[in-house]
Amino acid sequence: MPVHQILKMGDARLLRVAEPVTVFDTPELHTLIADMRETMATANGAGLAAPQIGVHLQVVIFGSPHPNPRYPDRPRVPETVLINPVITPIGTEEEQDWEGCLSVPGLRGMVPRWVHIRYTGFDEKGHPIDRTVNGFHARVVQHECDHLIGKLYPMN
Ligand code: NI
Repeated sequence: MPVHQILKMGDARLLRVAEPVTVFDTPELHTLIADMRETMATANGAGLAAPQIGVHLQVVIFGSPHPNPRYPDRPRVPETVLINPVITPIGTEEEQDWEGCLSVPGLRGMVPRWVHIRYTGFDEKGHPIDRTVNGFHARVVQHECDHLIGKLYPMN
């Protein structure tokens, strides 16, 4: 599986709005996700969105079976493939915390995010995902899903 080059801020492809996936469990989708996993693991990312490798589909991956060396003091987030995500904030509480992004190398920034969210979507086989999460897990999901609407964290 090839490791892809991660697009960097300033590349107009990062500003595009991604299209929903309409057919699940295809060889193309599995290849995309395998490539994204490999690319994210090589970069020690906490998450990766398909547009970051130039694919304009609503596909994000995040989480890891191991603590993340880029975020060693953060709670572990389960390994997840999330397709066509919808995020709903629960309550109105927001918090600021530091974020980084593989498309914005060498920088960290304080970003406000919802503390409690529900997110729904599908895995690569088309099985529904429906989770209610908070804190770092919620932050990672919000960060990755922003990539699907062409938003990078310095734009928050
Ligand atoms: Ni990012």
